[in-house]
Amino acid sequence: MNLIKKIVILTGAGISAESGIKTFRDSGGLWENYKIEDVASPEGFKKNPDLVYDFYNQRRRQLQSCKPNDAHRALTDLEKEFDVTIITQNVDNLHEKAGSKHIIHIHGELNKVRSIQNPHLILDWEKDLTQDDRGPHGESLRPHIVWFGESVLDMDKAIEATRRADIFIVIGTSLQVFPAAGLVHYLNFEVQKYLIDPHVEKISTVSGFEKISEKASIGVPLLVKKLMNGKS
Ligand code: APR
Repeated sequence: MNLIKKIVILTGAGISAESGIKTFRDSGGLWENYKIEDVASPEGFKKNPDLVYDFYNQRRRQLQSCKPNDAHRALTDLEKEFDVTIITQNVDNLHEKAGSKHIIHIHGELNKVRSIQNPHLILDWEKDLTQDDRGPHGESLRPHIVWFGESVLDMDKAIEATRRADIFIVIGTSLQVFPAAGLVHYLNFEVQKYLIDPHVEKISTVSGFEKISEKASIGVPLLVKKLMNGKS
């Protein structure tokens, strides 16, 4: 009988906002300045690949100078006492930079690219990507990002982890994009559920969650302290 409690954490753009990375749907968010279909859809990539390459090149360049904040770091503390899995919609690498170990990137990763012909050929890639870049066997390359209309990555792993959670924490996501938002429906009845977001009032489909109406850098360390104290 495994006595270590399983904590599953679903994160969205809000956890990285205080690290200087724009969210999508807040005022000033990414979708205010770009049309989703132009830069985050297969059709947009086909129509104007340079615009899409440039959109992700800008975000990849910006990411290089971004650091994890107190929220990312507090989640690594949880790993001392709990079996922690982070399911993230974010394509940044701030959970990795903070030191978290078990991360499921269901929307892809900015610092990776993949072959257009063979989606299983994924390469680490931190510099700009252009139409002229090629893989090791001459493959054309695209950002390793899940675009609207494409299947998310590792959803079976994410669902399996969610089913087994003893504690489920949602941080910094508007829960407007599926199937990520649908994960809450795989939770067992008696799971302890927490939501951390400065605008909790705007988020529906979270009945039974203890709501912490704070920015992530304040709310996450508070909750981690409570869970660690309750544990030890
Ligand atoms: N701390 C915590 N939460 C915050 C903060 C903060 N400092 N600032 C904003 N938020 C919250 C907002 O209140 C909102 O609920 O973060 C959430 C951001 O929501 P979105 O911008 O919709 O981002 P997200 O939910 O991650 O979007 C999901 O949509 O466009 C796609 O693929 C993209 O992964 C993304 C997905």
